[in-house]
Amino acid sequence: MSVKDFESVIINNEKFKLLFSEKQIQKRTKELAKQISEDYKRTVPVFIGVLNGSFLFMSDLIRYVSIDCEIDFFKLSSYGDAKISSGRVKLLKELNCDVNGRDIIIVEDIVDTGLSVKYIEKLFKKHKPKSMKVVSLLVKQDSLKYDLKIDYIGYNIPSKFVIGYGLDYAQKYRNLRSIYVLNENGD
Ligand code: IMP
Repeated sequence: MSVKDFESVIINNEKFKLLFSEKQIQKRTKELAKQISEDYKRTVPVFIGVLNGSFLFMSDLIRYVSIDCEIDFFKLSSYGDAKISSGRVKLLKELNCDVNGRDIIIVEDIVDTGLSVKYIEKLFKKHKPKSMKVVSLLVKQDSLKYDLKIDYIGYNIPSKFVIGYGLDYAQKYRNLRSIYVLNENGD
């Protein structure tokens, strides 16, 4: 399989259709970066990426941001090989930077049930940041099970499984440049 903008990809006999092309993702990411740069122009925020999924979005987002900023990553357990959330979150890699008194922006690839963001918010509140906001490229609004505020949203998407641009299926396909959605109708 190549990593170009295909209209669809077949994985394990399942068809995934193009949802957002590389061009669309870049355009939207640029818009989010512009808004964030405007909102944080009087401070130096720390962008905190949630590994593994957010690494591509994080790298594009901060390159479009026009203000001074810092970055760090931490890692949560993922879905494993499944297509649905296990309902559990485990911290696999801690932050290296001190977020006390800082303006922090959590960078997520996708918010599904909202469990991860809820967990992250609780974790960071203990470190007393000055402010905390969340940016997520994708949000499955109909899957949300927690009362959350996602401050910057790339796209609201249906509650369907998606892959590409950092998002995996059993750890693969993160390197697709576009985002694909599982076509449950099979057409
Ligand atoms: P949540 O905790 O249920 O909001 O799920 C968030 C995490 O689940 C994301 O950071 C992803 O790692 C993973 N995830 C949720 N939906 C998808 C999907 O459609 N494809 C791939 N990974 C997903």
